[in-house]
Amino acid sequence: MLETIQETERYLRSKLTTIPNVAIILGTGLGDLVHDILIEKEIPYHDIPNFPLSTVEGHSGKLIFGKLGGKPVLAMQGRFHYYEGYKMSEVTFPVRVFQALGIKYLFVSNAAGGMNKSFEIGDIMLIEDHINLFPEHPLRGKNYNELGTRFPDMSNAYDKALRRMVIEIAKENDIKLQYGVYVGTQGPTFETPAEYNYFRIIGGDAVGMSTVPEVIVANHAGMKVLAFSIITDLGILGRIVEVTHEDVQEAAKIAQPKMAFLMRRVIEKLDI
Ligand code: HPA
Repeated sequence: MLETIQETERYLRSKLTTIPNVAIILGTGLGDLVHDILIEKEIPYHDIPNFPLSTVEGHSGKLIFGKLGGKPVLAMQGRFHYYEGYKMSEVTFPVRVFQALGIKYLFVSNAAGGMNKSFEIGDIMLIEDHINLFPEHPLRGKNYNELGTRFPDMSNAYDKALRRMVIEIAKENDIKLQYGVYVGTQGPTFETPAEYNYFRIIGGDAVGMSTVPEVIVANHAGMKVLAFSIITDLGILGRIVEVTHEDVQEAAKIAQPKMAFLMRRVIEKLDI
């Protein structure tokens, strides 16, 4: 595993002119953030040794290197979902490569169903915490001490200082922000009304099929994480309607400029 990571790291080091401090994972319908990046290089996943290939519609599958907020960033346009059949080690492989490159900040976005009664479609939720309901833990198995500790602390999984920055930026710019707990499930089904209700009862505000594995590995790797959910549909009893992947993509697109703005401003403000 370590050698595989290093091989990919070496390949990327040979392609990049600077090693960024920030990596960004873009969720469903949220790939447009790359338009804000002053792109220097695009590397399709199929050119990157050991990288899995993205299979789902709406995920184009390339690594984008360029400047955002005046700082170099590496953005993943398209992520690897557990429901696609990837192993957890594949879902989180890019995060391990970011770690090997010395990247310190991981920014993540996703599309999610909102269960909090105050949420509306198109809202941006700053993720404060998560509940991991994936059937397999990404750190299960042998622990590589070079990569992180056996029993990682998760009390600040979504970095408090980064969250404070976002809250301030949103306030200054009159951007409506919701806050809450993201429930990560394997999918690929959307939830039944009973499941949405259950996730709400256990403390969730939004539910989706990604993010949690990458965030766990990023924490194991000692990276600071900032993550947003775009609320693309509602899992609120009495307001649940049929939902399709296309609905999710469309709703995500509407909110994405505001989320992109928040990410860019945080990067601008970071002392890196
Ligand atoms: N549930 C799970 N994943 C999702 C949803 C949802 O309602 N919306 C977008 N991704």
